[in-house]
Amino acid sequence: MRLDKLLSVAGMTRTEAKRAVAAGRVQINGVPARDPGAHVKETDVLLDGRPVTPPGELYLMLNKPAGILTATKDARQPTVLSLLPEAFRKRSPGPVGRLDKDVTGLLFLTTDGQLAHRLISPRWAVEKRYRAEIEGAICQRDIEAFAQGLVLSDFVARPAKLFSLGEGLAEVLVTEGKFHQVKRMFAAIGHPVIRLERLEMAGIALDPSLAPGAYRELSDEEITHLYQTVQLERTQ
Ligand code: URA
Repeated sequence: MRLDKLLSVAGMTRTEAKRAVAAGRVQINGVPARDPGAHVKETDVLLDGRPVTPPGELYLMLNKPAGILTATKDARQPTVLSLLPEAFRKRSPGPVGRLDKDVTGLLFLTTDGQLAHRLISPRWAVEKRYRAEIEGAICQRDIEAFAQGLVLSDFVARPAKLFSLGEGLAEVLVTEGKFHQVKRMFAAIGHPVIRLERLEMAGIALDPSLAPGAYRELSDEEITHLYQTVQLERTQ
């Protein structure tokens, strides 16, 4: 890895890394470094006499607001990454699955590709709970239609649990995440979605203390729970 990249992963900007090198604070195998672009082995580098260890994986929960793209970059529109501070952005976490631009609520972001892959893979059937403001009210027939697996134009949705919360409001638990899936399911039973929010994923609820646009790191217990949900062994 490039020396300046290693120092930036450890929390420095490129400019700070350059300055640290120029000031003789960085050593490679005991010799003061001269070139911030040098290719180095992590274990050979000392900053102020101490090893430079990149932080471990990053696991975040974001309360995604409306109007933000679930993407890592876009030329014109703000993305979920633009809601994170520079120190987290430069570690390049990726969103775990996708929420439409107008959809709000729980979104995990992580650098842990293996965990992210399993959490969105249909194979692991991870449950997601959404609250939907809809036109009209859900009836028993709608609940049964969701439970049986709705036939949509290009696929049959997996059985889903639908709950009525009264006129104009419902919650649904789904185990897959095809494009516009929840909106399409409600439209198919004649109750178009007006507003959609994800409340829960893999049994972890959106933290009610997070205002729209706010994020926090997942707790150790939450990370372990996600690992267990998709039958991965946690080694770190
Ligand atoms: N279903 C949708 O229709 N949109 C989302 O963003 C997520 C689930």
